[in-house]
Amino acid sequence: MNFRLSEEHEMIRKMVRDFARNEVAPTAAERDEEERFDREIFDKMAELGLTGIPWPEEYGGIGSDYLAYCIAIEELSRVCASTGVTLSAHTSLAGWPIYKFGSEEQKQQYLRPMAEGSKIGGYGLTEPGSGSDAGAMRTTARRDGDHYILNGSKIFITNGGVADIYVVFALTDPSSKQKGTTAFIVESDFPGFSVGKKEKKLGIRSSPTTEIIFEDCKVPVTNRLGEEGDGFKIAMMTLDGGRNGIAAQAVGIAQGALDAAVDYAKERQQFGKPIAANQGIGFKLADMATNIEAARLLTYQAAWLESQGLPYGKESAMSKLFAGDTAMKVTTEAVQVFGGYGYTKDYPVERFMRDAKITQIYEGTQEIQRLVISRMITK
Ligand code: CAA
Repeated sequence: MNFRLSEEHEMIRKMVRDFARNEVAPTAAERDEEERFDREIFDKMAELGLTGIPWPEEYGGIGSDYLAYCIAIEELSRVCASTGVTLSAHTSLAGWPIYKFGSEEQKQQYLRPMAEGSKIGGYGLTEPGSGSDAGAMRTTARRDGDHYILNGSKIFITNGGVADIYVVFALTDPSSKQKGTTAFIVESDFPGFSVGKKEKKLGIRSSPTTEIIFEDCKVPVTNRLGEEGDGFKIAMMTLDGGRNGIAAQAVGIAQGALDAAVDYAKERQQFGKPIAANQGIGFKLADMATNIEAARLLTYQAAWLESQGLPYGKESAMSKLFAGDTAMKVTTEAVQVFGGYGYTKDYPVERFMRDAKITQIYEGTQEIQRLVISRMITK
C-alpha cells in the first residue's frame, strides 16, 4: 500500500494549481456575479491537455488516468467550482459513455474533438418529471429509416447552450421504461434541437445550466450509443464515475474555503491575539482539515479503483456522499470563522458556501447515494 502520489500525478497537480491560480481565480468572483461562462478558460484548459485527461492519445487525450482527472477537478474547484463542473460534466458525463460504449467511428468523430477541447460535451438525463427517478423519463426516440426522431425536453443540463455534443437518453420503447431507454449522441446543430430556459442559480453561477429541447429532432441511427434498450444502464454506469468527479469538486471547494479560513484566522486580531489562537477557532479548523482529508482519501480511492479496472460504483457513491456533506459543513464553518466579513462578497467564502450546496444535489442527491450504497451492501 502506498499513499504517495506518483511523479506524474504530482506534476499534473502542480500544473493545474498554477493554471487555476493564474488563469481561473482572478475572474472567479466576477464571472460568478455576472453568471458568465468563459470559453477562453476552456480553450486554455484544452491547450494544457486537461479536456482529455483519462482518454488515450489515439482519441485525442493525454493518456493519464481517473486519479489525475480528479486531482485536476479538485485544483480547479479550489478556486472556481464552476470551472470544475464544466470539466467534470465534459469528461465524466459526455466523454466517458462515448469512450466506453461508442464505436470506433463515434470515438473518432466525437470523443477526439472533445478530448482535444475543440468541442464541449454535455449530458441529458433529467426531465421535469424525472429527477431522482431517472427511469420515469418521457422523451421519446422513434425510428424513421436511418434516423431517430427525438421529442421531449431535458432540464438542469450542465454546459447547456455552450456544449456542442450531448449524450442524451430517450425512450425507444415507451412501454418498458428502463429497458426501453436508449442513448444517443446529439450535436447542437442537429435540426429540431434547441436550448431553452437558462437557470438562475444559488451557486456555480458561471457554469450555465439550461433546458434542452427536442422537437422532431433528427438523429442519425449511426449516433445511437450502444443498442436499443442499453440506455438506462449506460446512464447509470456513467453516473458511477461522474459522482466521483463531483466528490473531487467538493474536496476542492472545501479546501479552498479552508485555505481562506486559515489565512484569515492567523491574521485577524481580536482581544489582542489572532483568532486562530482561540480553541473555538483552532478546533474548528482542525475538524475542517480532518474531514477534507477523509473525503480526499475516499475520492482518490474510487478514482484509483476505476483506473485499475476494479468495481468502483459503491465507493464513488460513498465519496460523493461524504465529500458533498464535507464541502457544505466546511464552507459553512469557513463563513463562521470570517464572521461578518465572511457574509460579504469581499471574501470568497460565501461563494464557496453557495457552490458547495449543489454537490449534495446533482449527479444523484445524497439520499440517492445512500440508496445506491445500501442496495449494494445488502444485495
Ligand atoms: N450500473 C449498471 N447497471 C445498473 C446500475 C449501475 N450503476 N444501476 C442500475 N443498473 C441496472 C440494474 O441492474 C437494473 O438492471 P436489470 O433490470 O437488468 O436488473 C436496471 O439498471 C434498473 O435498475 P434499478 O431497478 O436499480 O432502477 P431504479 O429505477 O430503481 O433507479 C436509481 C435506480 C439508482 C435510483 C437511479 O434512478 C438513479 O441513479 N437516480 C438518480 C439520478 C441521477 O443521479 N441524476 C443525476 C442527473 S445528471 C446530473 O446531475 C449532471 C450534472 O448536472 C452535472
